[in-house]
Amino acid sequence: MQKKQEKLNIKLYRHLMNLYVVFSQLVLNWYHQYGRKNLPWKKYENPYHTWISEIMLQQTQVKTVIPYYKKFIKRFPNVRMLANSSINNILNIWSGLGYYNRAHNIHHTAQIIEKKHHGKFPNHFSNIIKLPGIGRTTAGAILSFGFNFHACILDGNVKRVLLRHFSIKEKTKTITEKKLWNKIESITPIHNTKQFNQAIMDIGALICVKSQPKCNICPLKNTCISFIKNDWSTYPYIQKKIIINQKNIYFLIIQCKNFIFLKKNTLTGIWKGLYCFPVFYNQIEILIWIKEKKIRIVQQEIFKSFLHKFSHLQLRCVPIRIQIKKIFYIDPYKNEIWFNMYSQKDKIGLPSPITKLFKKIFSCFHT
Ligand code: ADE
Ligand code: SF4
Repeated sequence: MQKKQEKLNIKLYRHLMNLYVVFSQLVLNWYHQYGRKNLPWKKYENPYHTWISEIMLQQTQVKTVIPYYKKFIKRFPNVRMLANSSINNILNIWSGLGYYNRAHNIHHTAQIIEKKHHGKFPNHFSNIIKLPGIGRTTAGAILSFGFNFHACILDGNVKRVLLRHFSIKEKTKTITEKKLWNKIESITPIHNTKQFNQAIMDIGALICVKSQPKCNICPLKNTCISFIKNDWSTYPYIQKKIIINQKNIYFLIIQCKNFIFLKKNTLTGIWKGLYCFPVFYNQIEILIWIKEKKIRIVQQEIFKSFLHKFSHLQLRCVPIRIQIKKIFYIDPYKNEIWFNMYSQKDKIGLPSPITKLFKKIFSCFHT
């Protein structure tokens, strides 16, 4: 009886191993024909380029990242330049890309690499994973793309492919996560690892998309359980509809000749580290604030409101400009500045709706 079971186990094991080899071969064949080989971070692939691109690609699509990546590498061609730069210069390039924590982590990591690793990107998983903003998947990407080592990647797109292909339906997120890592570690080939990693991410991003996957052109369709059962939509990864909150906010644009009053956003929140106009939630708040600051208004103007969307939040923004004759005292401990529109525009990070507003209102912002 026991022997029979053992035989069965061996058979099952062999079957799985064959399936994994077939899986990686199908993915690699697909890569040679259709894989994305012209991405700018593939041009001179090294740990630095891979690291920057992978951080930018977290939660952001390739087509959005490309122009930011090019600008970033031009301005900061290596770790040293990045480590020695001020956070404001980094945020200036990052502005519009969102998730600003990433820019802060990049700055911090660059300084750690300079100090602790003598300017060289560490090439051990245990050291890479300690760096701020780098998780298991990003570390895998740096090791495989940047160093050409054998390492696995499991981003959201890859997870979706595996969940569907192997019909993984576990009870909890933790068990699912563990199972997915085990799977990807069994499948990822020892040779051509970086091609395999790029290809499986591309298949997830371009073919096995969230809704309406393009199974008819998928290289994995002959082995994919979910394709065979036609049940790709029954997996738990499909996100529940996010309830979007709407909020009204007022931007107070205080102008004194060429100077605009700006405040740096505190260390948490959506525009962390970026400079912004003072924000208010109603007009009474504005009046109280003006009174407290003893501001004398010469002219006032309300601009057309606009909508700024985040994944979970929609802001209806109402810009109000007031012009004043004399600048008032600023509190450097509160990160307040009088920003010179003509000479400082490349020196600080501004959120994209603020840059747009500047462009709309002030001609000096057009390049
Ligand atoms: N998403 C994360 N890393 C990526 C990469 N190297 N190519 C395409 N999409 C990605
Ligand atoms: Fe995804 Fe369809 Fe390919 Fe299966 S066959 S991996 S469901 S695209």
